[in-house]
Amino acid sequence: MSRLRRVLKLQDLKVRDLRLGQAGLDPQQSILMIDSRVAKLPMVKTWMKAFPFRRVLRAGEELKSLQSFQREVEYWQSHWGARLHRHFCIIAIGGGSVGDFAGFVASVYWRGLRLVHVPSTWLAALDSAHGGKTALNVLGAKNQIGSFYPAEKVILVRELLEAQPAERAVEARGELLKMALLDGQSWSRRVRTALINGEADANLWQGLIWRCLPQVIDAKLRVVRRDPREENGQRQILNLGHTWGHVLESCLGWPHGRCVELGLHFVDEFFTSDFCADAHRRSSRLLPTLSSSVKKRARVDRGSALERLARDKKRSDAGHVVLIQPLAWGKVRRVRVELQALLDFAAAEGWLK
Ligand SMILES: NC(=O)c1ccc[n+]([C@@H]2O[C@H](COP(=O)([O-])OP(=O)(O)OC[C@H]3O[C@@H](n4cnc5c(N)ncnc54)[C@H](O)[C@@H]3O)[C@@H](O)[C@H]2O)c1
Ligand SMILES: [Zn+2]
Repeated sequence: MSRLRRVLKLQDLKVRDLRLGQAGLDPQQSILMIDSRVAKLPMVKTWMKAFPFRRVLRAGEELKSLQSFQREVEYWQSHWGARLHRHFCIIAIGGGSVGDFAGFVASVYWRGLRLVHVPSTWLAALDSAHGGKTALNVLGAKNQIGSFYPAEKVILVRELLEAQPAERAVEARGELLKMALLDGQSWSRRVRTALINGEADANLWQGLIWRCLPQVIDAKLRVVRRDPREENGQRQILNLGHTWGHVLESCLGWPHGRCVELGLHFVDEFFTSDFCADAHRRSSRLLPTLSSSVKKRARVDRGSALERLARDKKRSDAGHVVLIQPLAWGKVRRVRVELQALLDFAAAEGWLK
């Protein structure tokens, strides 16, 4: 599993100077793959000049394609060819799209190059940089090709994360809430207090996410360690809030974390409704209040929702989905639910147009 390091400033990430015997990243033996927005940040511009092998990449789903994979490796071969060798390390600086792409390239180029992630979005810092999943999209379908390839190191740099507009932290907090529900340790209670005291304050969320990151990551890795290659179903619990979250993401195009937060509300409502014919009906009692206007704007049509749910590769079989139900802090269970029943619930409770 990856080692975790936290620094306040990019300058704290020492670049190795062989003459001075200084430890750190070695620019002569690294390929820097960096998000184009991040590369423009003043503190990054000077820092990255030390790296002769660097690629500035435009973030987004287009990057995670076979075409850009081919472009990438052809560029390496034609421009750097013989200067590269097997012990090169890819340093991926960016959000989840750059991380997924660079991770995939690292996992297959010469059957595996060293990999370091420096996540620059809250979503990547909370989630995508950890656990080893890499991915490319095919014909608009997300994450169809990929590998399990954990980075040897993940470095969190506070000033990079805080260079994002503060609202990004509120958008990403769905993943924080998810892990707080799954883990239920003392840090989860801090999240709950924050929700009660000042849920709209973006700066508060930035600070809180930064402080909770080590615990959130540790909680995710404890799940991943039990099922590193998604073989025995244990890792499935990380999908909490994602079934409906993915429907919203693909139908509305809203940020992933925001959709996951709404997806958490969705399961919460489902498991307290009459549609859940089960003795375990109860609410998670962690979520912020969901305003009726937000819920109204998040409505999708039944056909699109059905199409997305049926396509979800994590569903148990045709006609059913597996929902993760929080039972108590740190305690969840998997529940197989009929697709039609789920959609009937969604229609009755105002999640559909
Ligand atoms: N591998 C996994 O386990 C995993 C888990 C969840 C999501 N993902 C993937 O992650 C991707 C989404 O990641 P994301 O939300 O980080 O989006 P992203 O990588 O597309 O970045 C979002 C935007 O933020 C900008 N940006 C990045 N860092 C910035 C900074 N410090 N300051 C200002 N702007 C910055 C980018 O240029 C981009 O415009 C999706 O492709 C999703 O499939 C992967
Ligand atoms: Zn997620």
